[in-house]
Amino acid sequence: MEVLIAADAIAGRVAEVARDLRRDAGPETPVHLVAVLKGAFMFLGDLMRAMDGPVTCDFIALSSYGAGSTSSGEVRLLKDLDTGLEGRDVVIVEDIVDTGLTLSYLQDILRARAPKSLRTACLLSKPSRRQVDVPVEYIGFSIEDRFVVGYGLDFQERHRHLPHIAAIGGEAG
Ligand code: IMP
Ligand code: MG
Repeated sequence: MEVLIAADAIAGRVAEVARDLRRDAGPETPVHLVAVLKGAFMFLGDLMRAMDGPVTCDFIALSSYGAGSTSSGEVRLLKDLDTGLEGRDVVIVEDIVDTGLTLSYLQDILRARAPKSLRTACLLSKPSRRQVDVPVEYIGFSIEDRFVVGYGLDFQERHRHLPHIAAIGGEAG
């Protein structure tokens, strides 16, 4: 496996994203982070630790149908949030935006719960793979079209524990 993004580079960028989130929210505004399980758990942990001011979090789990390494476009809700979003400043925390189908679905269902604001932070983006034009206000790193693991991301549930982002094989697919 080839290391694409080293652990210290991730830490530096995550701190910048945390600072941008707080700057945009305002110093005293409670920010509610909604992390997408399982891939975003490490990003959420580091992002939250790097944020000043009031922050809370909740978790949601989604699944794409199909067992391949690419999204089939069908998404279902596996685990819902514990609390409502009405009137809150919500930030979706996701590991990676690939086709955008998962995020687009998630934004639709969360927007229907009437948050005061809804923004999205993704650690990684593969812009060349996008199928829907989904808004992502905060992107850690844009990467080429390769299947990546580590820092929460898996291939068949493996490699989530790696402290860096690594690429498996050649082109994703
Ligand atoms: P999308 O719906 O195509 O944007 O897919 C997004 C989801 O697919 C992410 O939340 C990941 O769970 C998964 N995914 C996409 N690309 C990768 C990758 O390179 N490594 C690991 N998971 C990925
Ligand atoms: Mg995911």
